Amino acid sequence: MGGIGAMTSSLEPAAPETSETSAAIFDSFVRDAVITAAAITEDQSVVTPTHPLLNGVPYAVFRRSIGIDTRRELGAFFSGDVIAKGLVQALAPYIDDNALVLDPTCGIGDLLLARAAVLPLATTLTGTLSAWGDRLAGFDIRPDLIDLCKARLCMLARARGGFVDDIDPLKMFPHIVARSMLAEDSADLLSRADGILFNPPFGKTTSDREHDWGSGQINAAAIFLDHLTTSVPAGTPIAAVLPEVLRCGSRYARFRSALVARGYAGDFQRQGRFDSWTDVDVFTTVLARSADVKPLWPAEAVTAGSVLDDFYEVRVGTVVPHRDIEAGPEAAYICAKTTPKWSEGFTPLTRRRHPGRAFTPPFVAIRRTSSPSDKSRAVASIIVGDTPVAVENHLLVATPRDHSLAACQALLKVLRSSQTNDRLNDLMRCRHLTTGAVKALPWSLPDE
Ligand SMILES: C[S@@+](CC[C@H](N)C(=O)[O-])C[C@H]1O[C@@H](n2cnc3c(N)ncnc32)[C@H](O)[C@@H]1O
Repeated sequence: MGGIGAMTSSLEPAAPETSETSAAIFDSFVRDAVITAAAITEDQSVVTPTHPLLNGVPYAVFRRSIGIDTRRELGAFFSGDVIAKGLVQALAPYIDDNALVLDPTCGIGDLLLARAAVLPLATTLTGTLSAWGDRLAGFDIRPDLIDLCKARLCMLARARGGFVDDIDPLKMFPHIVARSMLAEDSADLLSRADGILFNPPFGKTTSDREHDWGSGQINAAAIFLDHLTTSVPAGTPIAAVLPEVLRCGSRYARFRSALVARGYAGDFQRQGRFDSWTDVDVFTTVLARSADVKPLWPAEAVTAGSVLDDFYEVRVGTVVPHRDIEAGPEAAYICAKTTPKWSEGFTPLTRRRHPGRAFTPPFVAIRRTSSPSDKSRAVASIIVGDTPVAVENHLLVATPRDHSLAACQALLKVLRSSQTNDRLNDLMRCRHLTTGAVKALPWSLPDE
């Protein structure tokens, strides 16, 4: 057996020609992984933590050999090292070494491997895997992923303990099984787990169950989390990575209320984009049922003092350039593209006719479209001049209630501050700033 250590170059196959050949490539990779984990051949050097089965290679092979449509359907986007270690560390204060830790959608086992990395070793491979087998549980609907998960756990034990004895990894880990977490048979393990590591599928789907918090197209993460939080006992903590839409989306307000009604509380950390292959903004959290009345996923502490709305009238620009005909009085005109960033005094250069409201300078024009990954969420400029200005609807207009230039300058400072960025990023993961979010910004001038 050359094993997977000896065939690293073939782990990065060229794009396969058909879905059958690609599925066969992954099948044979999993078979080789199991053989590699089962026995160390004489020509093979000692297994180290950098062995291909323990780094990004299994996921790379999976991505290359299983088409994106299948991966999307499964929601098979596996955790990287940082998220996996972070979730394990976040769960640790709630459990001890003997705890049974369950990943209900375990894939190729990245979260379980991160947990196994901090479990004690026994003196033999069999002893270690038996002890880990009592403490690790997982479900996945794909048997090949379950096999690969077991082979990888076995390789991790070899790498950590320097073990060279033979073993059949597939006969170990009785609680890691190929089954849906939603299946009736899964209820027993769900009810016995002491802690949960969770990275569920994130795609949009239609639930075949009734939910009083939502219907139609629903993010799969909400469906899986809903099932989990109604299946595990009250004291079981859940360390999870979840899409931001569950935390911030207005569509999921009733879902969040349902979690609160079940007694769940939990802080959160924004993690940004899941990884370079998966353009979904995510956050991590430990959900626990808490006797204290703590908020679920609280936004940044709301300041008791004033908000921006107290001092500025905030409106959306009224001109929709491709829809509105050029009629009505002519006025100076600004749009998002031609208004410079962070100008302290921009005089509009163009004019157009428009029948709707025009805004009297000085005021602050704020770009509505921004992304959580941008340096600034609320890019703005002060607009000056002697006559009213028609404003495109891709800009927000904040007019100081005292109509002063000084108030515009103060607002520019606030919008540029890291506090404003953090606050808007907490509130808004979607790309459009709303008047509500801007009006609710705490009014305090940033430190110079
Ligand atoms: C986002 S991946 C996460 C894998 C792993 N937890 C990790 O973080 O690397 C989700 C996994 O859920 C699996 N899955 C999809 N539907 C499932 C179900 N009903 N029950 C259990 N697993 C499921 C997919 O096959 C996929 O491997």
